[in-house]
Amino acid sequence: MLSLNLRITFVVIVVCRMYAGADGSVTISSSEVTVPEGLSLTLTCNYTGIDKLYVIRWTNNGKDSGHKYDITIEQSEPCTIFGKPGLDKTLFTYTCFTLTILNVTRDNQNDNLTCQANLNFNSGNSVIVSVSDAPSDPPVIEGYASGGTYNMIENSIENLTCSSSGGNPLANLTWSCFNNQMSSPIEQGRTVKRVVQWTARRNENARCTCTASHAVRPNKHQTAFVNVNILYSPSTPLFKLDNTAVGSSIRIVSDTIQTVECDSSGNPYPTTSDFTWIKGTNVVGTGPVLNWPGGVMVGDDGSYTCTVETTLTPSDQNPPKLQTFTRESALEGYSFMIQCVYSVGNPARTKSTITRLFNGTSWSGDSHTMHSINRADAGLHRCTVENTMDPTGADTQTGTDTADFEINAHPDLQTITVSYDEISLDSYTEIQESDNLGFNAAVTYEIMPVEKESTDYDALKDPVYKNTKRKNSMQKNL
Ligand SMILES: *[C@@H]1O[C@H](CO)[C@@H](O)[C@H](O)[C@H]1NC(C)=O
Ligand SMILES: *[C@@H]1O[C@H](CO)[C@@H](O)[C@H](O)[C@H]1NC(C)=O
Ligand SMILES: *[C@@H]1O[C@H](CO)[C@@H](O)[C@H](O)[C@H]1NC(C)=O
Ligand SMILES: *[C@@H]1O[C@H](CO)[C@@H](O)[C@H](O)[C@H]1NC(C)=O
Ligand SMILES: *[C@@H]1O[C@H](CO)[C@@H](O)[C@H](O)[C@H]1NC(C)=O
Ligand SMILES: *[C@@H]1O[C@H](CO)[C@@H](O)[C@H](O)[C@H]1NC(C)=O
Repeated sequence: MLSLNLRITFVVIVVCRMYAGADGSVTISSSEVTVPEGLSLTLTCNYTGIDKLYVIRWTNNGKDSGHKYDITIEQSEPCTIFGKPGLDKTLFTYTCFTLTILNVTRDNQNDNLTCQANLNFNSGNSVIVSVSDAPSDPPVIEGYASGGTYNMIENSIENLTCSSSGGNPLANLTWSCFNNQMSSPIEQGRTVKRVVQWTARRNENARCTCTASHAVRPNKHQTAFVNVNILYSPSTPLFKLDNTAVGSSIRIVSDTIQTVECDSSGNPYPTTSDFTWIKGTNVVGTGPVLNWPGGVMVGDDGSYTCTVETTLTPSDQNPPKLQTFTRESALEGYSFMIQCVYSVGNPARTKSTITRLFNGTSWSGDSHTMHSINRADAGLHRCTVENTMDPTGADTQTGTDTADFEINAHPDLQTITVSYDEISLDSYTEIQESDNLGFNAAVTYEIMPVEKESTDYDALKDPVYKNTKRKNSMQKNL
């Protein structure tokens, strides 16, 4: 009872004292400049004022003045917390001059902690808490789901970008990927990225892994990976009789044999539909085995060709993409420009062609100008854009996109700018081609095309991706 009375008396006295400014009697120091999340932070308050010290108050002002709590420590032996209901005393420990926040979390980032002596606002000093934390999400390999497959053609130069967002500081990224040529980490705001570049040969299929490590989580690395699948063309086909390889020219005695096998391997492995047998100009079979049901007979003699075709589709390749095309309106007698607008693919070098579909005339380049359009020029046209990848050691691949659009040639609808004695009358009149203009000789006029708007957008075709296939063929003569 006695001590309670004392406290009340003392609070009244201190609050009533007036101070004119920060009196510099309190300094505050922090055990860490940056505290890793999950660890504790000890703040020490140092009072050098001349008044007798009764109480120290710690205030967590939160960040941006979002007040969190006050902890008032009475400076009597032993120092005790001046009771305040609702304060969770499991979150901190204290001594007369220190406050230890037991488990600093990222919620404490930028908390502003103030220490005041004797409840004198002007004596306060503050520190801003800096928490280091690890990113909450694992790193990401841009464009690929972790655990996915990355297809590349053997010997080509490939690269992947790993990216990690969040954490303070940003995580350390490293790659484990073939010969591992890594760029320096690139920081962009709250994200860090690192590119790895590599090349690999057939049968070296392996995993490329990006690891994000962080001092706050020393033994818990986060990773993302792709399985690299190295594609290569089918081998030159070999003929086999009874599982034994034979040369390209063999004599077969009638009736002794019914099947010849064409053998080839690659990645992807050739499937049944990848094999074609041709005799002369005729397709005589598909699949790896050519059959003569009932045996080879007179008339079966000749030259047979086995062709193996597989498609190698690398992950990093994408075709250029055309913008949606309008139905174009043109005015007879005027010049008109067709333009193919597209976004580049990878690789960026693009070949474009404009084709007049009704008679097959084509022009190369992104645009074509018709100098005096007439009705015969109207009709369906096509833009084709194409890129080509030419990796070392493999055949080229072509990515294409096409878009068709109609050109309408309108009869000459005109706007007349009328001027009199070279002074423009500034009036615009729309008239028809057939109208009698009826101006006298002193009036000159200028004819300008009317802008015909078309809002009729027409995406006629989705982009197509087409790979030219590697063909390896070998002849067999019977
Ligand atoms: C408190 O501050 C005074 C004056 O700045 C300094 O001399 C003293 O060492 C400090 N004490 C502690 C415990 O930091
Ligand atoms: C610290 O706080 C976090 C979040 O509240 C909690 O998950 C973790 O278990 C705490 N750690 C300790 C050591 O108390
Ligand atoms: C911390 O809070 C105190 C009390 O509200 C304020 O006077 C001080 O300016 C704040 N410090 C910073 C850096 O915001
Ligand atoms: C990675 O590959 C892409 C596409 O091939 C290319 O545009 C980019 O410049 C490459 N980056 C590096 C760092 O090599
Ligand atoms: C990143 O690595 C460096 C050098 O090993 C280390 O000093 C730093 O603390 C690490 N950063 C993080 C966030 O772990
Ligand atoms: C296709 O049509 C255009 C316009 O009618 C004409 O100029 C061009 O000569 C034609 N080309 C062929 C190959 O017929």
